Amino acid sequence: MSFTKIAGLGYYVPENVVKNDDLAAIMDTSNEWIIERTGIEERRFGTRTKETTTTMGARAAEIAMQRAGVEKSDIDFIIFATLSPDYFFPGCGVLVQRELKMTEYEAPALDIRNQCSGFLYGLSIADQFIKTGQYKNILLIGSEMHSMGLDFTTRGRNVSVIFGDGAGAVVLQPSDEPGILNTCLHSDGTHAEELASINPGSHSGYHLGTERFGYDDRKYGGTFLTQKMWDGEDLYPYMNGQLVFKTAVTKFPEVILEALQKQGLSPSDISILIPHQANLRISQFIQRQLKLRDDQVWNNIQRYGNTTAASVPIALTEAWEAGKIKKGDLVCLAAFGSGFTWGSALIRW
Ligand code: UT7
Repeated sequence: MSFTKIAGLGYYVPENVVKNDDLAAIMDTSNEWIIERTGIEERRFGTRTKETTTTMGARAAEIAMQRAGVEKSDIDFIIFATLSPDYFFPGCGVLVQRELKMTEYEAPALDIRNQCSGFLYGLSIADQFIKTGQYKNILLIGSEMHSMGLDFTTRGRNVSVIFGDGAGAVVLQPSDEPGILNTCLHSDGTHAEELASINPGSHSGYHLGTERFGYDDRKYGGTFLTQKMWDGEDLYPYMNGQLVFKTAVTKFPEVILEALQKQGLSPSDISILIPHQANLRISQFIQRQLKLRDDQVWNNIQRYGNTTAASVPIALTEAWEAGKIKKGDLVCLAAFGSGFTWGSALIRW
């Protein structure tokens, strides 16, 4: 059986740099608070007239395809991971196919909704399709346009200061040599609403109306959009930051060790760990837990914030461009986020 390799990789971030002080000018927050709690110094926000989740994904994909030396006609499967799609439906997979002018080849397009671990889930799906021989050139994209859907008032500050926009992409191909050594995926829906954007949706107040919102929106009788939502009270993402933080610092090391143990390896064997960029404090915690040196962990949340499904491929591409990933290196990817869903991948480069 063949392995799957990353044949090309690329990223795109909007030009528009938003500093912490820019946010402090519109809500009650400060540069000091954001840096101390998250490590973030600045992030990129897209421009409404210029960028969407799809177009950013397309720009990253063009770079990945060019580096892989493949033509549009070679791509036989598209996987798109995002929680901030251009449309509720159809998904960004078909939109990126159109944006890249690839529709004539009629390659299948799959959208995955696994938030921060979307890229890891996509990588695992692609790996299975390559290993079974069904596809030979898979385009996997993670892209997010968070800035269009955040609450930039003080009410939403614990969420809105964290997230940024951007996209990353890889082209995956079969290889005789490893390759992706393994992927480990997990989920636990117990706390689904603790990091979530639930409106508009068809839940109709599903088991949380009264407790969470102080009113029972079931009384609106299954309405997809309610007046309350339009009034802006519950249209934004919600995050129980402390619960997410506590769970993340447990699950990240667990799933990284799981991947290493499957291969009979240990943390000291890792050449570089690319963790999902959720919070610099989370990355530092993982680093300490696994006793990794600074040069074994790549962080760029300081410059881009948390770009959810895009964060791993952006960081991976940056590390590769910086010469930190060489042939034979053991690269470990890991992510945790909403769902909760989490995962890891070990790649022999
Ligand atoms: O990628 C998806 C996964 N997401 C994550 O991994 C995020 C995990 N969680 C976190 O990163 C952290 O929980 C946050 C950065 C979101 C929040 O940091 P925290 O240290 O957990 O703060 P907190 O929520 O406990 O809030 C502490 C205080 C509160 O004020 P009081 O009640 O102590 O007076 C908040 O209202 O900080 C306040 N606060 C802020 N103050 C200034 C919350 N957000 C802000 C803000 N600026 N942006």
